[in-house]
Amino acid sequence: MTALGAWIESHRLPRVGLGCWRVCAPGRPSWAVAVETIRAAYEAGVRLFDTADSYGLDEREHGYGEWLLKEALAGTQGTVVVTKGGFARPAGMWEGRGSRVSVARAIELSASRLGVSTLDGYLLHGVDPRVDLVESITPVLEARAERRIRWVGLSNVSVSQAARVTAIAPIDMVQNRLSVTVRPVGTQEMLGFCQSNGIVFMAHTPLGPVLADGAKDRVQDSMTVRRIAEARGVSSAVVAVAWLLAQSSGLVAIPGARKPDSILDSLSAVGLTLTGDEIAELGGVVPQDR
Ligand SMILES: NC(=O)c1ccc[n+]([C@@H]2O[C@H](COP(=O)([O-])OP(=O)(O)OC[C@H]3O[C@@H](n4cnc5c(N)ncnc54)[C@H](OP(=O)(O)O)[C@@H]3O)[C@@H](O)[C@H]2O)c1
Repeated sequence: MTALGAWIESHRLPRVGLGCWRVCAPGRPSWAVAVETIRAAYEAGVRLFDTADSYGLDEREHGYGEWLLKEALAGTQGTVVVTKGGFARPAGMWEGRGSRVSVARAIELSASRLGVSTLDGYLLHGVDPRVDLVESITPVLEARAERRIRWVGLSNVSVSQAARVTAIAPIDMVQNRLSVTVRPVGTQEMLGFCQSNGIVFMAHTPLGPVLADGAKDRVQDSMTVRRIAEARGVSSAVVAVAWLLAQSSGLVAIPGARKPDSILDSLSAVGLTLTGDEIAELGGVVPQDR
């Protein structure tokens, strides 16, 4: 187990963090409500917070999510903030900025916005198709060697991409999309790869599209989740997160929330143990990987 895995094991509500995209994205709440949501999660025991330098409406807001977390977590103890770099947001789009120089500068700026000399966690947000992955990750690995980052990782990668990096140096986390209704091709392989390399797998968009906007195309899938949720007297979100937690002991889910009630509810998934039959039934929700 890596040091990050040990840290997660030793904390209360260790396997659920707060994803902070929704409080920065279009349709976001006011700054004050966003701060309240993050504080509510902290007060309830959440210690892991996920953001990115690109979380905001567009490039004019580069750093919004990091400034938000800095304010919301001021004076708190024992938190881990995972941030990400490697994207720009021209006109609100997502565009890779994976050159060595860009990523090195992004790391410095993230540390400065979060007001730390050592970033807790830093991920390459995605692979820039115009840049070799090893070039992009090199400044991240160098910053860890210089103790400017504690834990490093990759996001939105395949096993072969992750393996290219681990051939150079160990990594602490992979953040890929996974939910009960969306299981990207290669996820099982990735879970196995993470488990055997002591890498924490962070499931991003863990409720989508169980509940998140745009869920309509998988109503049938959502019905299965809803039926089990009703039988257990919990919300669909709780069932969806509990199912994720049952997939691997090295998996952490980071549900997003715009309001305190959502994250407080999702947290209760830590206390729900699904039966083997329920896990199997939920496992059949998606007829094929996609
Ligand atoms: N690495 C990447 O490229 C990447 C990509 C996407 C996301 N992420 C990370 O993953 C996090 C999670 O993804 P996401 O926020 O897009 O989607 P999500 O976690 O799948 O869904 C969040 C939505 O579900 C709702 N929700 C949460 N808990 C609920 C509950 N208990 N009951 C009812 N509704 C509930 C929230 O409602 P309210 O908003 O109304 O509270 C929010 O709209 C992000 O915040 C971000 O940190 C990373």
